[in-house]
Amino acid sequence: PPFWAVIPAAGIGSRMRADRPKQYLQLAGKSILEHTLNCFLDHPCLRGVVISLAEDDPFWPTLACARDPRIQRASGGAERADSVLNALLRLGELGASEQDWVLVHDAARPNLAQADLDLLLAELADDAVGGLLAVPARDTLKRVGSDGRVRETIDRSVIWQAYTPQMFRLGALHRALAEALVSDVAVTDEASAIEWAGQSPRLVEGRADNLKVTRPEDLHYLERLWRGRQ
Ligand code: C5P
Repeated sequence: PPFWAVIPAAGIGSRMRADRPKQYLQLAGKSILEHTLNCFLDHPCLRGVVISLAEDDPFWPTLACARDPRIQRASGGAERADSVLNALLRLGELGASEQDWVLVHDAARPNLAQADLDLLLAELADDAVGGLLAVPARDTLKRVGSDGRVRETIDRSVIWQAYTPQMFRLGALHRALAEALVSDVAVTDEASAIEWAGQSPRLVEGRADNLKVTRPEDLHYLERLWRGRQ
């Protein structure tokens, strides 16, 4: 189906301990953000991209894709959910309608495979709610106390890690995020806002290597992975 992409890219990425937000770090000759955008720009069903950026972001204007007419800017907000909400408002201004599909994808996930994107679109095209790429938990999981000691072992067969893209209808996602934000509930992804609105997003199993670059070792891992593919 035709779709819009929203890329929240207004975070500072403090866990990377770098001199710039992580989406601007280099990976195989390009910034992480350019790789991420290319995952979408290459897709034949893309209608357009809105990227949420910090107001005073000095790095974005230096990228060639800043002049790509398919990419529009929105302002970043205090939390990721605010950044996404601003992007959804921008989509409305661009003529998107309530029923249009929106795929929200982290700026810091540059290794989204085209096959995973196609799988998500195909699996959810006729879904009433929408959903997200996710990965089943691999390791044994422990709940831990503040003393660093195990309280219990959690049944991992029912635990999945939420990845992105997350795919929902523009109108439903807009309402869910806006209501969750005014109610002060924790929304760390789009699906949690939809859940809070009483709906149940569908999980589509994706590749584990669509990881979010969070720590320096994640970047080193992707560098090795991509070098191996050349
Ligand atoms: O910090 P974390 O890795 O969870 O951020 C996920 C994504 O949300 C990143 O792409 C980051 O740039 C974005 N973000 C944002 N606005 C914020 C916080 C995070 O756009 N206020």
